[in-house]
Amino acid sequence: MKLPSMTRREFVRLGAGAVAAGAAAKAALLEPVAMAAETGRRIRFAIVGTGIRGCDLLRSARQVPTGVCVGAADLYETRHQAAREAWGGEIPTTRDYRTLLDRKDVDAIFVATSDHHHRRVTLDAVAAGKDVYCEKPMSHNVADGLAMVEAVQAGKRIFQAGSQRVSSILYKKAAEIYASGRLGEVHSIDAHLNRNSPGGAWVYPIPADASPETVDWEAFLVDAPQRPFDPMRFFRWRKFADYGSGLGGDLFVHLLSGMQAITGVNTVTSRAYSSGGLYHFKDGRDFPDFLETVYDYPGMQVHVHCNQNNNDGGDTISIYGSAGTLVVAGNTLTFTPQDVTPHFEIYGWHGMTEAQTKQGQEEWKAAHPASPAALGEVESFTLPQGYDDTAAHIANFFRAVETREHVMEDEVFGHHAALGCHLANYSYFHRTVATWDAATNSIKG
Ligand SMILES: NC(=O)c1ccc[n+]([C@@H]2O[C@H](COP(=O)([O-])OP(=O)(O)OC[C@H]3O[C@@H](n4cnc5c(N)ncnc54)[C@H](O)[C@@H]3O)[C@@H](O)[C@H]2O)c1
Repeated sequence: MKLPSMTRREFVRLGAGAVAAGAAAKAALLEPVAMAAETGRRIRFAIVGTGIRGCDLLRSARQVPTGVCVGAADLYETRHQAAREAWGGEIPTTRDYRTLLDRKDVDAIFVATSDHHHRRVTLDAVAAGKDVYCEKPMSHNVADGLAMVEAVQAGKRIFQAGSQRVSSILYKKAAEIYASGRLGEVHSIDAHLNRNSPGGAWVYPIPADASPETVDWEAFLVDAPQRPFDPMRFFRWRKFADYGSGLGGDLFVHLLSGMQAITGVNTVTSRAYSSGGLYHFKDGRDFPDFLETVYDYPGMQVHVHCNQNNNDGGDTISIYGSAGTLVVAGNTLTFTPQDVTPHFEIYGWHGMTEAQTKQGQEEWKAAHPASPAALGEVESFTLPQGYDDTAAHIANFFRAVETREHVMEDEVFGHHAALGCHLANYSYFHRTVATWDAATNSIKG
């Protein structure tokens, strides 16, 4: 089976008005390469959690010929039917995911539960000898992430965290440009993802049939604080720290995973400082609706911010280099080279006499006899209509299950991205700079 790769359709010249002054421009549509099974074997997977994301995963998996869904588990009865509809066919369903782990015909488990179940389901799946695709954020807290890394590695399992943009051909193109060195020195990255609607702030529908009969509330709580059945907490769990991780776990993790995929930085941030607030959605939730964090990564600062009260259309990672700027925005990436050829900089001569300036100019010209190189072109690359990075991510996982080669977004990559979220939340809630103590594998204030 081939990894998705890209070829370039012919470049399309852009009109002069579309580009920065002085630079020509070219644009290309990225083209995914179809994947075929190496041996023709289809990976047999079962899914735990068939809510919003679980159903989306099943819909995307239908496009991937190398896998087949053979079972689904969910704590809310009606979602068994939602899973069948999303997969587009009959699959055995259960409330108790452990029955899926007992099955010898299941190769891999997809974990698409609320964050506080990721560790438990992953560890149980690994103990049963299954490979695991676990949704982002990989962990609900530091201890969960450490336990998951240890278990996956001890069990020699294939594990992939579910930030699908890591498999996107757009991010692969961005990584290629980054690795080419054309950006020069990079010390600053800015990333943001905004939303502006109740759904964007996790106010999801609560179905009329939700009740203690249709929902296994005790199984949902597991080791979270005990409380009476509360459909708001079950269907809108992202708002509560007992089950979710706020903007950090929901959105920061996509941006941090994208940053890691482009730059190749695969380490824990050493320091994070957050600010933000709960400004609009004051409905009893634990988390802010605006959060921004400045991270220290080796040699560079990464500024991440997410706002649930504005939508500038932004899902953007901007990478600022000494020789150019790379912006990944939605479905398009743009590389804009900067004019770094030496030139006579007149500003510093504004306080000199005309004679001094003339002499300075002449000396500069004598020292730089060659005519400056032409500025490179602005390049942009766009995903084809309907491109599904989740399908590409699932295909990469199936390939790894087949070949036993690690995926890029393995347990260590996923752990590092999730730790960025935990440090951001720690800093926000403790009103302090959060630092990562590698000696003790813990966050210090
Ligand atoms: N990669 C992405 O773009 C993306 C998008 C959305 C959500 N997610 C992630 O996917 C996960 C699920 O989010 P969601 O929006 O689908 O939530 P959801 O509430 O819609 O669905 C979660 C489902 O998990 C089930 N569940 C929980 N624990 C279970 C268990 N032990 N056994 C069986 N079922 C269990 C619940 O019954 C629920 O139906 C989260 O970790 C979230 O961060 C990722």
